[in-house]
Amino acid sequence: MKIIMLGAPGAGKGTQAKQIAAKYEIPHISTGDIFRANIKEGTALGMEAKSYMDKGQLVPDELTVKILLDRVSKDDCKNGYVLDGFPRTIPQADVLDKAVSELNDKIDYAINVDVKDDNIIRRMSGRRACLNCGATYHIVNVPPKKEGICDTCGSELVIRDDDKEETVKARLLAYHEQTQPLIDYYNNKGILKEVDGTKDMNDVFADIVNILG
Ligand code: AP5
Ligand code: MG
Repeated sequence: MKIIMLGAPGAGKGTQAKQIAAKYEIPHISTGDIFRANIKEGTALGMEAKSYMDKGQLVPDELTVKILLDRVSKDDCKNGYVLDGFPRTIPQADVLDKAVSELNDKIDYAINVDVKDDNIIRRMSGRRACLNCGATYHIVNVPPKKEGICDTCGSELVIRDDDKEETVKARLLAYHEQTQPLIDYYNNKGILKEVDGTKDMNDVFADIVNILG
């Protein structure tokens, strides 16, 4: 099964994608996580991506597309994957479409996790992230068992550099201009599914499982 998660920054794409990956035994691929891992390792790719991410802007398509195509060509993607944060522009969606068609395959679902902007800004200020394993928490909604420490791997939790309020606003702007048009794009292809991302996260997941079967 090949699934795309759509939604504004902080809508809960990552939270849901991790659960989908575990239930359906497919890899969870987040371009944001790949960029953050590169930043942590200090690679040239990481440094370039950081200059855009810190301003709340999208990383250029050429760079992002190359990384994604490389990742989905790996053996573990043979039975499908859940993409979180890709595609984010129409050109990215076109490249993915072409790559999948060349394998005589198709994307099965594009799931839009719908959350309005005011709610997003509240969520992001409480998010804490593990840069080691990619787990995410929220100080009120999803607190870790031990304050400041990742339940999964024991690393220290941090506030992401791009979760400052001004940067979140810039990310929302980029989302509305460049990513939101993908909702119509996938609706026209007949594979768009909408879920209400403001519900409790377990209820959001139950709605997704209803769609995926
Ligand atoms: P990326 O890492 O993809 O960030 P994003 O899209 O801004 O999304 P987030 O990870 O912030 O949010 P999310 O939807 O995953 O929500 P989460 O589950 O964490 O990208 C970062 C940057 O990298 C981009 O700005 C861009 O620069 C670059 N980039 C990445 N991909 C790119 C691409 N394809 N092209 C170009 N540039 C790219 O949840 C958020 C918070 O809410 C958490 O604290 C969580 O615990 C909480 N929460 C989740 N669900 C619920 C719920 N139902 N109720 C209450 N709280 C909830
Ligand atoms: Mg995420």
